[in-house]
This record gives sequence, structure tokens and C-alpha cells, in this order.
Amino acid sequence: MELPFAEAWKIKMVEPLKKSTREQREKWLEEAKQNIFMLKSDYVYIDLLTDSGTGAMSDRQWAAMMMGDESYGGARSFYNFKDTVTGITGFPYVIPTHQGRAAENVLFSAIVKEGMVVPGNAHFDTTKGHIEFRKATAIDVTIPEAKDTQLEIPFKGNVSLELLEKVLKENPGKVPVMILTVTNNTVGGQPVSMKNIRETCELCHKYGVPVNIDSARFIENAYFIKTREEGYADKTIAEICSEMFSYADCMTMSAKKDGLVNMGGFIATRKEDWYEAAKAFAIPFEGFLTYGGMNGRDMDALAVGLRENLEFDMVETRVKQVEYLAKKLDEYGIPYQRPAGGHAIFVDADKILTNVPKEEFPAQTLTCELYLESGVRACEIGYVLADRDPVTRENRFGGLDFVRLCIPRRVYTNNHMDVIAAALKNVYDRRETITRGLEITWEAELMRHFTCQFRRLK
Ligand code: F0G
Repeated sequence: MELPFAEAWKIKMVEPLKKSTREQREKWLEEAKQNIFMLKSDYVYIDLLTDSGTGAMSDRQWAAMMMGDESYGGARSFYNFKDTVTGITGFPYVIPTHQGRAAENVLFSAIVKEGMVVPGNAHFDTTKGHIEFRKATAIDVTIPEAKDTQLEIPFKGNVSLELLEKVLKENPGKVPVMILTVTNNTVGGQPVSMKNIRETCELCHKYGVPVNIDSARFIENAYFIKTREEGYADKTIAEICSEMFSYADCMTMSAKKDGLVNMGGFIATRKEDWYEAAKAFAIPFEGFLTYGGMNGRDMDALAVGLRENLEFDMVETRVKQVEYLAKKLDEYGIPYQRPAGGHAIFVDADKILTNVPKEEFPAQTLTCELYLESGVRACEIGYVLADRDPVTRENRFGGLDFVRLCIPRRVYTNNHMDVIAAALKNVYDRRETITRGLEITWEAELMRHFTCQFRRLK
């Protein structure tokens, strides 16, 4: 008999979980103004808020931390980390930052100016925030098929070359960079094919526009290329990553995801001019060029994390757990963005809470219901996150309204996945009875979803 699939690691240290009663959760959620970001983590049973910085480090990473060189300038840890990044990506210039959005801040300070236009396949919210903060415009050029949540295609994160070319043609001299996000978080952790990466870069280069890969989950993207794209089955994850970056000019990285560390980020590029320009912002914003907001020991742990995650078994374990949860939801008939993404399941709240009007934020409502039901904390990736249009100040209801079940790396077991699925099923079974959603009582102008306050409508 063929042996079943199992995790590529065993557990050396555990952290107890805390359960609570529905009554307690009602009180805590009310105090948090119906915003799960504002809950104390002690009030959460299974935490699916994000896969960012929430993973478990390995014994190899903890051992590397003991070797950290905390020198202000020229730390050995920096060179160890830089050589690892250059080895994987081929980019010779590397600037460490404290996390992904800091990398965006440094790079965009150098290249994005008022009135410019930045196309991308569904910019992540901080990326869009950094563009709009500079009074430039972020334009989404994801393939339209990504919006059909029930359509099963292998590379749903792809760029529409048609939409991209339209932006490039209509804005000569105004596009400083194209942002290619792998995997495409906003549409469901969906991958981008190698063919699409190559063609996107070729098209941009034809118009003289450099490409920055927003690389938070580039190793998961490489896994999907290996398992889904013709011609890549026999290549290693490292070889696939190397080819992905060979077409692009630069990357910004949130190392808190595929870097398998709790904090960290970087910019890496082959463009000397961008490197020189970004350096001037890196020093005042992040710190000197050989630490940039990270400890020496963090850079060592990151170097090990990146190399470790390139091992096929490690990334396979991760993606298969997300698939496992998806299969459970299939059993219960719960709709989500198909196929399952690399880091999360994006539950299609619009199709579940059909009695809650969009003005009352169905996905945020479903997120609250799931928490009340079980103590499972998910995250809204929908109309609240979409913010208001910067010009009209209207809510942006044009996109999708998801509840993201985001799985931390190497933290929970498949038994936890069973609990999550069962909790969601219980809410799903009484979906018809949920007829009212939430009203915003306070919101920030930009990136409101972190701090937004709501009132439950009765
Ligand atoms: N780009 C992508 C694609 C991301 O998913 C994130 C963060 C960032 C950039 C910013 O990186 O958090 O290190 O500053 N995503 C997290 C999430 C927060 O929950 O999806 P950061």
C-alpha cells in the first residue's frame, strides 16, 4: 500500500491554545468594535488573521540566530543574507528593511511621483496605499477570469496582457514601474504562470517600463509552476525561482511569509540606478544599509528560512494543508475562490450571506459570525479592505468580498483545519437567518480595515 502524505517536519516545541465561550466572545467582539484586528490574541482560539510573521521557525533557524553578528556596519549576518538572496534571485543589489511595506516605502520614495500610474495584478493593500499616498494611481490589470470565483483555472493570478498594454500605451512616460505580485494575494493566493511572468516582463520592457516582483510568496508560486505548468515538473523550486526573477528588474519582499521569519523584508534589484536612489531613503527610514531595521540574528534566520523553504517537501507540506482545508469546505458545499490558493482559502461571502446587502459588508459580517461561533479569527479581504475611491470617496464595491482563512506556516495540524471547517459549516447552515450586517461608525482615510469601527445592525 502506498504510504499517505505527511508533514515534512516534526514538532519540537508547542504553545497551548486558549478556548472561550460564546458569551465571552460576544463581549470581546463588542469591545473590539466588531473589528477582529482589535481583539487580543488571547481571545482567539485558532488564528487565521494572516500568514505574515506567524509561522514557526525551524531548529536550524533558531540555531542560526545564535550566530548573529550585531555590528552596525558590515555585519557578517548581512553578507550571509545578501549572498543567499543574490544566489536565489540573481539580483546583485540588496537592501534589508524591517518588513515588506517598508521595502515598498523605500523603493517608491525613489521612483513613484505624483500623477504617475502603476499597473499591477491586484496590488496588495499596503502597495496600493503607498502608491495612492504619493498621489499616483494604482491600476489593476489582473485577468478578468479571477473575478469568477467558481472558475477553475491553474493560474488565476495572471496579468491580462491586453489590460496592461492599454495602460502602457495610454500613459507614455508616466509609468515608473509595473508591480507583479506572486502569488496574487488579493485574488486568493492565486499563482502566476512562468509564461505570464515572461510575457508581462517582455511587454513592459518593450515600453521601457521596469518590473518589480512583489515576492512575498514567490516560493509558493514556484511550487504551482512546478506542479501545474508544462515543462517544469522536473525542475527544482530553486531553478524555477531563478527563472522567475531572471525576467524582472527588481523585487520587494515581505520575508514574513515565504522567508519563514517573524519579521523582515528587503529590496533586491539588478538596477544600479534604483539601488543608488533607494539607498538615500533606506538610511533615514530603515537604518544603515547592512541592517535596515533587522537584527543581525534575524538576517541569519532569514537566510536559513529562504533556503529551507526552497526544499520541495517544505513548500509542498504547506500548500497541501491549504488544499486539505479546501476539500473539507467542498464536502460542506461552502463556496470559495477556486482552486485553493497557496496560503489561504478565500471564502466567497457574497454567495453565502445573500441576505446581507453589500452596504452592510457581508464578508466582515461573516468574519464576525465565524469568530462568535468558534473563536476562529479570519480576516476580511473585501469591501472594507478595498477602501473608498480617493476621488469620489464612495465605497469601492466593484471587487470581490472574501473572508480569508489564512494558514500560518508549520503552526496548526489538520485537526485544526477540521475545526475551522466545522465552525464555518455551522455558520453556513444558518446563513439564511443572518439578514443584517454592520455599519461603519469610524474609519481612517487610508487602509481603514485595520482600525475601522463598526456597529452591528439588528
Ligand atoms: N505584498 C504582499 C503580496 C503582501 O501580502 C503583503 C503583506 C505585503 C506586500 C506587505 O508586507 O506585511 O511585511 O509589510 N501581507 C500580509 C497579509 C499582511 O496578511 O496578507 P508586510
